[in-house]
Amino acid sequence: MSDRDMAAYWDRAGRVWVEHQGLLDRLMAPIAEAVVEAAGLVNGEAVLDVGCGSGATTFAAAWRTGPTGRAVGVDISPALVELARRRAGEDGVEGVEFLLADAQTQAFKAEYDAIVSRFGVMFFPDPVAAFANLRGALKPAGRLAFACWRSPAENPLSQVPLKAAAPFLPEVPAFDATGPGRFAFADAERVRGILETSGWRDIQIAPLDTVNPLSFDELMTMSLRVGPLNPILKDADDDLRDTVWDAVAIALEPYVKDGVAQMTSACWLVTAKA
Ligand SMILES: C[S@@+](CC[C@H](N)C(=O)[O-])C[C@H]1O[C@@H](n2cnc3c(N)ncnc32)[C@H](O)[C@@H]1O
Repeated sequence: MSDRDMAAYWDRAGRVWVEHQGLLDRLMAPIAEAVVEAAGLVNGEAVLDVGCGSGATTFAAAWRTGPTGRAVGVDISPALVELARRRAGEDGVEGVEFLLADAQTQAFKAEYDAIVSRFGVMFFPDPVAAFANLRGALKPAGRLAFACWRSPAENPLSQVPLKAAAPFLPEVPAFDATGPGRFAFADAERVRGILETSGWRDIQIAPLDTVNPLSFDELMTMSLRVGPLNPILKDADDDLRDTVWDAVAIALEPYVKDGVAQMTSACWLVTAKA
């Protein structure tokens, strides 16, 4: 996917994320905490949150850098940046700003102590160029900490809906281990190679697993409205949409006990130094 295709993709997907921001933030809150903890942020520091979306990780970082510090979120989606700015204003969070820009090419000044990201770094068309560019945003010995998904096999709830819908669809997106895409960093050795080639050192990659309860309705929302089925179904007729909806509901039923499903998120927590 080219830079332009990716920007167009996130322009549309960003609007879907805006719609479901509350649910997404609840499910992924422990991952934001793990990332900012790993970055070792302290009061007064400047931190850049890459692919910040509607700002949850930027806000978590801002709690640590405090009003004398600076937490800057950068994202390519206009709808998500607009929501992030609105949330910062409504919640009166100090020391927070949001920048609408492509983190792969933006000419950052070397002014940050740390870079953090929750699932915002797997979408670069040229990851080596992007991580080299991001390194240039850090002061000497600046720190990097991000979370990315491990494999689809280790995140089964991401695959069940696709498999259930597949027989009714003309085509389903194939898993592409070299991305860009949400599983682009599933292979830890690939991530290490990208970071080494782009000049990072002290690279550590450790599993990060979280489990979050969600209702059956929330699970259906995540499966059909947020995930990869959303763009496929958006132009489908009502019959096809109903058929897929029923097939996905049946396939997800075994994962729900007493109305609640446990969603396991299997991630890598990656840290490095500039
Ligand atoms: C999976 S979402 C994660 C959003 C947010 N970090 C969160 O956890 O809620 C990925 C984000 O990366 C952003 N993104 C993708 N490519 C980008 C790029 N080249 N520069 C900046 N942001 C980008 C998307 O717009 C999207 O908001």
